[in-house]
Amino acid sequence: MEIFKEIASLKAFLKQFRQPGDSIGFVPTMGALHAGHLVLVQASRKENTLTVCSIFVNPTQFNNPGDLAKYPNTLQHDVELLEKVGCDVLFCPTQTEMYPHQDHIRFDFGFLDKILEGEFRPGHFSGVGLVVSKLLNIVAPQRAYFGQKDFQQAMIVRKLVADLNLDVVLKLVPTIREPDGLAMSSRNTRLSADHRKSALVFYKGLQKAKTLLQARVPFDAVQEEIKQFCESQPEIKLEYLALADSTNLSLLKSVTPQSILLIAGYAGEVRLIDNLMMNDEN
Ligand code: PAJ
Repeated sequence: MEIFKEIASLKAFLKQFRQPGDSIGFVPTMGALHAGHLVLVQASRKENTLTVCSIFVNPTQFNNPGDLAKYPNTLQHDVELLEKVGCDVLFCPTQTEMYPHQDHIRFDFGFLDKILEGEFRPGHFSGVGLVVSKLLNIVAPQRAYFGQKDFQQAMIVRKLVADLNLDVVLKLVPTIREPDGLAMSSRNTRLSADHRKSALVFYKGLQKAKTLLQARVPFDAVQEEIKQFCESQPEIKLEYLALADSTNLSLLKSVTPQSILLIAGYAGEVRLIDNLMMNDEN
């Protein structure tokens, strides 16, 4: 695997993979890699001649400085994992390489960045929009891979790509879970053994909400029941359970064939998110 820290050297290297018939697949990450990230790399490898992964803990998307400071850094292990799954190129720039100036532009995604994660993490999606724009401009891939785990982020990136007329095809990859159902996340490593047990309640809450909605329980009542269900576990605090249209993320009060349930909350001090499509098997 080729490893680059500088934008100029990465760009120069990628030039040779821009011939007709070539395609570059891109997987942006913040590192502390797990099987959820690796399936994105595997999906890219199947569809492209070259796969580029980036690892950059992007400061502009952290609304909580403590969360940024505690974000796990496991670069050496990440490199080993990427080599094992056959990633071709790793781009791991420094903060000054990506943000040489203190002042940077901001994005407004309309209602998409005001609801759900946007409501609880003000400024977060502006930072995601900025770093993803920069990375897509640097790598200029034919395809870019994002996880369903961060569903709202994927919708934000879809809007970014459409509104800026970026020439990239976005691919959404289903959420990879631990054997008990907990969605894999780099933040899971920060959970104590007790909080790790409690955290499973978010996925269980999604499944329970789905069953209740299928039994035609009104959504307001479902929200109330799931809040109690989740918060009956030690040190769990629910921030939201929402039902939305998966094609545009508009919030719903009743189920449609395309609806998705989204959940977020704290297990101890660790903030976790998850979601479930109403028409999925799982
Ligand atoms: P990060 O949290 O490292 O996630 C990188 C990619 O992996 C995202 O597209 C995310 O949705 C996907 N992912 C994470 N956990 C997953 C799981 N359990 N199953 C499937 N996919 C999963 O998301 C970010 O980084 C950043 O916001 C980024 C897009 C890199 C911009 O900084």
